[in-house]
Amino acid sequence: MENKSPIIEIKGLYKSFGKDKDVLKGVNIHVKKGENLVILGKSGSGKSITIKCLVRLVEADRGEIKVFGTDLSKLDNDELNVIRLRIGFLFQNGALYDSMTVRENLGFPLQRHRAEFTESQVNLAIEETLESVGLSEAIDKMPSELSGGMRKRVGLARTLILKPEILLYDEPTTGLDTITSREISELIISIQKKYKTTSIIITHDMACAKFTSNRIVILRDGLVYTEGTYETLEKSEDEWVRSFFI
Ligand SMILES: Nc1ncnc2c1ncn2[C@@H]1O[C@H](COP(=O)(O)OP(=O)(O)O)[C@@H](O)[C@H]1O
Ligand SMILES: [Mg+2]
Repeated sequence: MENKSPIIEIKGLYKSFGKDKDVLKGVNIHVKKGENLVILGKSGSGKSITIKCLVRLVEADRGEIKVFGTDLSKLDNDELNVIRLRIGFLFQNGALYDSMTVRENLGFPLQRHRAEFTESQVNLAIEETLESVGLSEAIDKMPSELSGGMRKRVGLARTLILKPEILLYDEPTTGLDTITSREISELIISIQKKYKTTSIIITHDMACAKFTSNRIVILRDGLVYTEGTYETLEKSEDEWVRSFFI
């Protein structure tokens, strides 16, 4: 039954900014182990805020967030950091360190969080992870020598190197051309298979949503407006829902 239980449970999530900017008004989202959940919604609908609340980068006003069965609001900072290490976050504009090679960029999280690793363990982890994202040949390059798609891959590798069980992707294909976007979508699936991760993918790219999603939720007016598979939502009777799929 283990793969049936939700690994992420968001219940009644509220978040406002200032007096009259109610962004989340009771969002409920569950993600099962091994699932890829896509979140759709117009710009400003609270998609990024939702996943930031999930890892408590932003504090929610109200609501329950359980990850791996643990209620995050009950954790102190040290306990929270232990959980956060099991969650990889690929930020919308996640930047690499420009003055460091790819190898050094990947070594950085290991130095911080895997201080016990020997030099050969570090090198092995870097090489293995780069291979997983199809970039073995870029190991000694500088970020400036790489294409946008390759930099995204390095960013993903830097997250993957700590072997997270959950991956949060915020617009992973935005700003990339169609072919490169397709490659990133394929990579998301290959990572799901290889690392057995559970993912939330925020995207506007419907090809990415179609390719990567096991299920989709659509946010509107601070709530989950509807959810379903790509195929069911595409045929929804609701014109507003269908408008995402044109
Ligand atoms: N730190 C903040 N202060 C004030 N407003 C914010 C802040 N962060 C986000 N917002 C507002 O919350 C809304 C939702 O933001 P966001 O989750 O980033 O939207 P999106 O669905 O495009 O990812 C937006 O209107 C944004 O302006
Ligand atoms: Mg966003």
